[in-house]
Amino acid sequence: MELRGPGGNAGAFFVVPPWAVSIGSRGARGARAVAGLRGQSIGLGSGAYAPYRFRRPHARDRSRPQPAPSPETALRDRLPVTRERSLWLAEGLSDADATVQSMEDASPAKWHLAHTTWFFETMILAEHLPGYTRHDDRFPYLYNSYYEALGSRHPRPRRGMITRPTLAEVMDYRAHVDAAMAQLLESAPAPEVLELTELGINHEEQHQELMQTDILHLFAQNPLRPAFRPSEPLGVSETGAEPLDWIAFNGGLEAFGHDGGGFAFDCEGPRHKHWLEPFRLASRAVTNGEWIAFIEGGGYATPALWLSDGWATVQAEGWQAPFYWYRRDDERWTMTLRGPQPVDPAAPVTHVSYFEADAFAAFAGCRLPTEFEWERAAHGVAPEGNMLDSGRLRPAPANGGGLAQLYGDVWEWTASPFAPYPGFRVAEGAVGEYNGKFMNGQYVLRGGSCATPPGHVRATYRNFFQPEKRWQFSGLRLAADG
Ligand SMILES: [Fe+2]
Repeated sequence: MELRGPGGNAGAFFVVPPWAVSIGSRGARGARAVAGLRGQSIGLGSGAYAPYRFRRPHARDRSRPQPAPSPETALRDRLPVTRERSLWLAEGLSDADATVQSMEDASPAKWHLAHTTWFFETMILAEHLPGYTRHDDRFPYLYNSYYEALGSRHPRPRRGMITRPTLAEVMDYRAHVDAAMAQLLESAPAPEVLELTELGINHEEQHQELMQTDILHLFAQNPLRPAFRPSEPLGVSETGAEPLDWIAFNGGLEAFGHDGGGFAFDCEGPRHKHWLEPFRLASRAVTNGEWIAFIEGGGYATPALWLSDGWATVQAEGWQAPFYWYRRDDERWTMTLRGPQPVDPAAPVTHVSYFEADAFAAFAGCRLPTEFEWERAAHGVAPEGNMLDSGRLRPAPANGGGLAQLYGDVWEWTASPFAPYPGFRVAEGAVGEYNGKFMNGQYVLRGGSCATPPGHVRATYRNFFQPEKRWQFSGLRLAADG
C-alpha cells in the first residue's frame, strides 16, 4: 500500500527510538544503539537539571554461543532498558509540560516518572535492601497511586498541583532508586525480589503507555496543538483500506488464561476452560473510513444503535466523532502525538469508547468479540505489530491480508466485563490491590496499541477501562456468530 504525506511527499517519517531493542535478542544493532547513547544527556527543555547518564546493560561477546541468562541477569539487563525508555519518553518535555494535569483521568508525566520509581522503592527496596534510605520521606504521600495498604496519599485529581519537587528533582529520585536496585540485583536476591522486580518493570511499561496518552490529551488542550514528537506529515493512504475478510473459528471447550510460564499479571489467570460457540472475526480493525460512514449514516444521531448509558453519554458530551477529531478546511483532521494530522481513512479508528464501539458494531449488523474469542484467535500468533518501537506513534493501515492487527495499532474493545476468572484470588499484601479491586464496571481490551512498549502484551493480556473512556488508543474489531 502506497502512502503519501498531505503535501505529496513520500518516504520514511519517523525514527526508531534508541531503546527499541528486545532484551532476548539484543544483537549488534541493539548493542550499538545502547552504546551510542552512553553518556548522552537527555535534553529536556532548557536542560535545567543535571544530565542523566545512560548506563550500558551488560555487554556480551556475541561471537561465541551464549548460555541462557539467569533470571537475575535477564532482569539486570531489562530493568535499565525499561527505565531509560521512560526518560526517552520524557525527552523534550519542559517542567511545565511534565507538571500540568489536563483531566482527572490523566496524570502529569512527572508524576508517572516518580510513581514508577516509588513502586520500586516501596515494594522492593524498603523491604529487601538492608540499610536502604528513602530518597525523600515525603514522596510516598505524593506518589502512592491507590494502595490503601501503603497509607494515605495525595488526591488523584490534584496531582497537577505538585509543582515541587521539580522535574530535575524527580530525575534525581529516579537515579537514587536505580542505583539501589542495581545494588540489590547484584547481591543474589531472593526469588521474591526477582518477582517484584519483574512486576515493577511491567508496571513501568504500563505507565509508559499512559505517559503518551496523557501527554496527547494535555497537548490537545493547547490551542497551539504542540507535537510530542516531530510533526512530519504522516502518510494518508491513496489506495484505501485492505478489504475486510471474515475468519471462521470452530466452537468447543477450550482453555483460556495464562498457563504460568513467564510473567503475567494476576488477572490473566487462573487458566480455565470456557465454552465457545462457532464465531467469525473480522480480518482487521475497523478503519477511519468505515467510521466516517458511521458518522455520515447518522450513527451518532440514532438512539436505537446505542446502549442506554451510551446514548445518555452521547447526549451529555455532544459526541459526533472520535476523540481528537476536528474539521479543518472541510477535511477531517485529528490530534496525534505528532501534532495535527489528516485522518487516514485506511488506518484503524482510535480514541473511541466502548459505547461507540458497541454502537458501530450494531450499525454494521455485527457485534464486538468476547475476550475469549479474541484470545482464541490469538493462539499461536506472535505478539508483534505496530507498537511503540516502530516509532510511528499512531495506528497504521492493515497490510498483508489474513488475520491482521491483532497486536499493536489499537487496543480492541471486547464485549467482556473485566471480571475475575474462576478460581481467582487476590494476593496478600499491597500487590493484591494491583488489579483485583478494579474488577467492577470496566470492559476488557486486548492486543496492545501503537503506544505499547515492545514485549509487554501477550495473548492472555487483559487491559481494562470504563466504557466511556476515549483517551487511550482504543478501537475495535467486528465479530459475528459463526
Ligand atoms: Fe501505577
